[in-house]
Amino acid sequence: MRFMLSALMILVLLLTATLIVMGQSAPGDIVFSRKDGGGGTPPAVFPHWFHRIRFKCYVCHDAIFQMKQGANKVTMDAIMKGEYCGRCHNGDIAWSVAFETCNRCHVQR
Ligand code: HEC
Ligand code: HEC
Ligand code: HEC
Repeated sequence: MRFMLSALMILVLLLTATLIVMGQSAPGDIVFSRKDGGGGTPPAVFPHWFHRIRFKCYVCHDAIFQMKQGANKVTMDAIMKGEYCGRCHNGDIAWSVAFETCNRCHVQR
């Protein structure tokens, strides 16, 4: 009986873990949450790992982003003004924000 219970517990834990991973785009990606529909544009996905291996943590934390998911009020206006993602995605350090690049960040999942 006790064995059955712990086996069940492990199964539940594994399922939860799988669901959490499946809810993300890929492991290590941060999907921005947005309340309004944003005119059909899917929420932006930030490949954290991709950036982490290229930059030291302090390049972004807390100079550009607070180290907490959802803590940064990132908007397209701010990005276009060169804040947040726009600090680098300006055609200088990384490819810029343009109509050809919308779907690199706004990934339909
Ligand atoms: C470098 C990444 C990046 C690119 C490129 C980009 N966006 Fe965004 N965008 C974001 C992030 C991050 C947010 C904030 C999180 C969210 O709402 O998805 C955002 C927010 C938005 C929003 C929500 C409302 C607002 O104004 O904040 C819309 C709509 C939007 N983007 C449209 C676009 C369109 C259209 C393009 C192409 C011209 C584009 N984005 C290109 C990263 C990007
Ligand atoms: C290119 C910029 C960038 C770099 C470099 C970077 N991060 Fe982040 N990090 C972000 C962004 C963007 C978020 C999400 C913020 C949000 O959702 O508002 C984030 C979120 C986080 C979070 C919060 C995750 C959560 O679930 O709340 C932690 C922890 C974190 N980063 C740690 C690190 C560490 C450790 C490093 C260095 C190894 C690092 N970051 C490098 C941009 C970066
Ligand atoms: C510190 C600089 C920096 C910041 C801030 C930054 N990026 Fe990037 N990002 C880069 C660089 C550099 C690349 C690689 C560019 C290249 O390959 O030409 C990149 C690539 C990407 C890619 C493509 C990844 C791939 O698999 O090819 C996406 C998507 C992306 N960034 C989204 C974002 C979003 C969304 C934000 C804001 C939440 C953001 N970035 C903020 C520097 C940055």
